[in-house]
Amino acid sequence: KVHEHEWRLQYHVAPIANWMNDPNGFCYFKGEYHLFYQHHPYVPKWDTMYWGHVKSKDLVNWEHLPPALAPGETYDKDGCFSGSAIEKDGKLYLMYTGNVWTGENYDEDLKQVQALAVSEDAVRFEKLEENPVISEAPKGEDIHPFHFRDPKVWKHEENYYCVLGSKTHDNIGQVLLYRSKDLLNWEFINIIAKGEGNFGYMWECPDLFELNDKDILIMSPQGVKPEGNLYQNLHQAGYVVGELDYVKGNLSYGEFELLDYGFDYYAPQTMLDNKDRRIVIAWMDMWESKMPTQEHGYSGAMTLPRVLELKNNKLITSPVKEIEQLRTNEVSYEQLKLINEMSLTDVEGDCIELDVTFKMKQPATFGVRLRVDDSLGEETVFTYYGQKGILEFDRNESGKGPGGVRKTKIMLEENKLHLRIFIDKSSIEVFINEGEQVMTGRIYPSINSNKISFFSDEEIEISELKKWELKRSI
Ligand code: FRU
Repeated sequence: KVHEHEWRLQYHVAPIANWMNDPNGFCYFKGEYHLFYQHHPYVPKWDTMYWGHVKSKDLVNWEHLPPALAPGETYDKDGCFSGSAIEKDGKLYLMYTGNVWTGENYDEDLKQVQALAVSEDAVRFEKLEENPVISEAPKGEDIHPFHFRDPKVWKHEENYYCVLGSKTHDNIGQVLLYRSKDLLNWEFINIIAKGEGNFGYMWECPDLFELNDKDILIMSPQGVKPEGNLYQNLHQAGYVVGELDYVKGNLSYGEFELLDYGFDYYAPQTMLDNKDRRIVIAWMDMWESKMPTQEHGYSGAMTLPRVLELKNNKLITSPVKEIEQLRTNEVSYEQLKLINEMSLTDVEGDCIELDVTFKMKQPATFGVRLRVDDSLGEETVFTYYGQKGILEFDRNESGKGPGGVRKTKIMLEENKLHLRIFIDKSSIEVFINEGEQVMTGRIYPSINSNKISFFSDEEIEISELKKWELKRSI
């Protein structure tokens, strides 16, 4: 039975009960999207990991299925950790990390190996007799023997490849590349990326894929230190754009960029669907965050599925088009004059999409307050500081959850700021200027905090404003 209350998300994947973290095995198989996830089925806290499972025909309406993987073998008895999915000979293979604790210290006393499970119907999975298929980390190089996890597998020409999250003996995050002809026998090729400078003590959940003739490597570094307005979480998810030499296993790549500039975004995983779209989904929470839904028996959620495109060597992110089928009761305005504060009686809500374009003549400070209840002093505020070119996401007064402020630099073209805002009962995702950047965060307001208001210190224009209620799909 679903635990119903005011924070239950209406159109985002979340567990019916208990714990969820990373997306796993995101794939398109025999006409359906499958999404697995790190799951603990007994308490709403991280513990021995299972793979939870949902599927969908359209990435919008999801159906819950029984857990796909449960721990129990000698090599995975303390958890089926993150991994990915691939189709071979009409069957669906899950490649995951088997985790075993060897002592009391969870940072040091562990043994991780890579294993496979297979299914014909994508519902019942059997672990292979050959497991583990990668039984130890490569020796003879600066590779930590135990922190060795999260295989992401893909096919390139005749071979299968996988990347694995790793670190050096001195705690520098890195990514390992492997090759296989049959998914069973794996050959280590090379360390393809390493966190020079401020990029964490371990790289989790790597993902490598091709987009517009480039090779993009996504990873989730743990323990990145704040730098200006960047990297405000202890963990971050980001990417580099490069070119992979598949023979030598060399990846030449540019700067590390964030995939999301908000509070809650980790362990993103991508898949290629039958329409050739590269779709990414991520855990819409963060390890160090307070999670008030735990009191209601569950915690963790996924972001909206988002399409990735590459423009000027940067990833552009937009919600999948299918989400528009949830729109209802459209409200639309044009050319509204905005000075001081303004609200509209039919623009409010806690399960809505808001599409707003601000236009200014000279730099102004303006923005939007969401999930507002003035009598309680609750609000979640997005402010654009025109002089500095900074967009700020402030959730300090958002309700019961964790507070904080996130900032990002946004350069405007033609003095226009376009925000596409998705509000679900306890989440906000803001796509900025056609997906140039995204800010995601969980918030836990009171049940009646539904008002919206716009504000500006100079006269500006809201050239377009649209609002839809979004129907429940989960
Ligand atoms: C990332 C992660 C993975 C690991 C999983 C365990 O959030 O730490 O590296 O496989 O979660 O649940």
